[in-house]
Amino acid sequence: MENPFQYGKVVAEPYFTDRETELASLIKDVEDRHNVVLHSPRRYGKTSLLCKLAACMQERDYNVIYLDFFRVTSRESFMELYSREIFNQSGKRWKSVLKQIGALVQGMRPVVSFDAQGKPKYSVTFEAGKVLSESLESVLDLTEKLDPPKRWLVIFDEFQEIAKLNGESFENALRAAIQHHKRSSYVFSGSRHHLLLDIFNRPGRAFYRFGKVMQLAKIDPAIMAKFVVDRFKQSGKDISPELAAQLIERVENIPNYVQYLAAELWQLAWQKNCDPDAALLERALESMLDNLADFFLQIWDGLSLQQKRIVLALSRENTNPFSQDYHKRYRLGPISSSQRAIQKLLADQLLAKRGSAYEFSDPLFLLFIRKRFLV
Ligand SMILES: Nc1ncnc2c1ncn2[C@@H]1O[C@H](COP(=O)(O)OP(=O)(O)OP(=O)(O)O)[C@@H](O)[C@H]1O
Ligand SMILES: [Mg+2]
Repeated sequence: MENPFQYGKVVAEPYFTDRETELASLIKDVEDRHNVVLHSPRRYGKTSLLCKLAACMQERDYNVIYLDFFRVTSRESFMELYSREIFNQSGKRWKSVLKQIGALVQGMRPVVSFDAQGKPKYSVTFEAGKVLSESLESVLDLTEKLDPPKRWLVIFDEFQEIAKLNGESFENALRAAIQHHKRSSYVFSGSRHHLLLDIFNRPGRAFYRFGKVMQLAKIDPAIMAKFVVDRFKQSGKDISPELAAQLIERVENIPNYVQYLAAELWQLAWQKNCDPDAALLERALESMLDNLADFFLQIWDGLSLQQKRIVLALSRENTNPFSQDYHKRYRLGPISSSQRAIQKLLADQLLAKRGSAYEFSDPLFLLFIRKRFLV
């Protein structure tokens, strides 16, 4: 029997639940040609939601481009990946689209080869010295110029990574081109929200106020619990609604971790040929923490000594860390060095500030620290 839960990757039905309101609102924005900036902490389900949006828009006869900015390493690689996405939408008309791309983009020649199954594979070559800044613009303008006219949805995932690509001049070129577009709607998504929101909220940056900002929240815990119960049932196991609610609470309802822990629990229940109970849930959590230990140790090793001291102190007590008392209690040395350490931990999103409390963004990292260093 296959495990009914999936984590760490993009999910679709039957591993996907809810997001109906968010999806309806995104569809409306795309149809109204409003640009949207979608953000959330890591692993809340942005990419899965965007893939669903892509499928919905394709049903409405849109062409869709999905580009993950982690894959973009230069202007040229952007031009290749972007025009390949366009090519991939062309279906039977691929020859004509290939010709149009060649004619419309100076300095870039699209080439098609065929794999063993006879499927066309797209790549590009660049003519030395002929790739101009206008070439990038004309790649972006393809959605507006290709014939016959179509509506396009363009999704830029992990968009904050654009800042690494020769800085803001790439941003300027992108904005200069797409601000005139009439047939194309854009969704910009990312998890490093400081970096992402900086692009859209800082006056003086090219994308200042360019899109409507939408924060993706966690899924309603009652809906998530029902999802867990149903998936267990569909695979021949029974979990009580109370235990499902407990499972969700243990990982603070972070969608990826809910499915991760549920997968571990289901696996144990399957091996022991029993239905899950509270004791098995604890074992599943242990096993999940063991699996994540290497990853967390790598994060831990990357911290400075002062950051480690602060992380340990905050794992015991997470409010008002800059008071004299707090510093004395946890032997933290000068307050100014703790301030620097915390600023860096916030910027790296290991911590998040809520009121006077500093919370661990990843509840399992907190559990790992407590288990490994505090007992
Ligand atoms: N709608 C959903 N229903 C149930 N589980 C979900 C849903 N969306 C996401 N998940 C869970 O979260 C995991 C991560 O989803 P996804 O990759 O879409 O998130 P993300 O926000 O894009 O993550 P990242 O910040 O790493 O890019 C999935 O593998 C799945 O376990
Ligand atoms: Mg993602």
